[in-house]
Amino acid sequence: MRAARDRLRRAARVAVLTGAGVSKESGIPTFREAQTGLWARFSPEELASPQAYRRDPEQVWRWYAERYRNCIRAEPNRAHRLLADLEMRRPEALLLVTQNVDGLHARAGSQRVQELHGNLTQARCERCQRTAPLGDPDTLELPPPCPHCGSPMRPNVVWFGENLPSSALEAAYVAFLEAEVALVIGTSGVVEPAASLARLTAQQGGLVIEINPEATPLSAYANLSLRTGASEGLSRLLDD
Ligand code: OAD
Ligand code: ZN
Repeated sequence: MRAARDRLRRAARVAVLTGAGVSKESGIPTFREAQTGLWARFSPEELASPQAYRRDPEQVWRWYAERYRNCIRAEPNRAHRLLADLEMRRPEALLLVTQNVDGLHARAGSQRVQELHGNLTQARCERCQRTAPLGDPDTLELPPPCPHCGSPMRPNVVWFGENLPSSALEAAYVAFLEAEVALVIGTSGVVEPAASLARLTAQQGGLVIEINPEATPLSAYANLSLRTGASEGLSRLLDD
């Protein structure tokens, strides 16, 4: 633990990957937990896919509108703030890569964030591809019309079967390849590239630290696994 804190403090490059576990303390349900109430009879694949959207865009939009409403009501938690502080102290050292679509890292003050799965608080035009913030959830037209060309917009997130945004993906690979320390927090690490990013750091001789209350496939090669929640784990690593 002491060695890990030390290397983290001195590292010229740190790459961080976050997943749904980091937003848990903000009360945001993970992907699978979002299937409650009205939505319990659908699997995520039945709502978060291009096929589902083609079949019934309004239904898919209703699901996203509800999740969007939860996100804007939620507040960033201590884990988000500790990561924003780390960036503020060492702006040139840190790259934060997230699978979360809730936008809470940015709201906590993180500036260099690569969103691998897009952002739930934005829509993207199906015709001109420009993005726009969603605005007031109570008066949302579903699907919202593009402010530039009037065409229908879709949620600006990555669906099952779709490619990740290539610029975010490339930035993530470079960051983990060059990192002296990789910090992986609150992700089950089963979908790519979450599964392989920290492996790149390990292969280059970097230190891999995991924070997750449960064991994951990453635990097998992490140098340090903190079996605890995101904010508790981060404060153990970063607090003076
Ligand atoms: P998951 O829901 O797969 O995993 C959440 C992880 O957080 C689990 O490993 C939990 O053990 C851990 N966890 C729970 N509470 C925690 C806490 N307080 N602090 C830290 N960790 C905690 O979420 P992701 O790994 O983010 O993809 O899921 C990745 C992707 O899989 C999602 O973005 C989604 C899904 O398919 C797409 O939508 C493309
Ligand atoms: Zn447009």
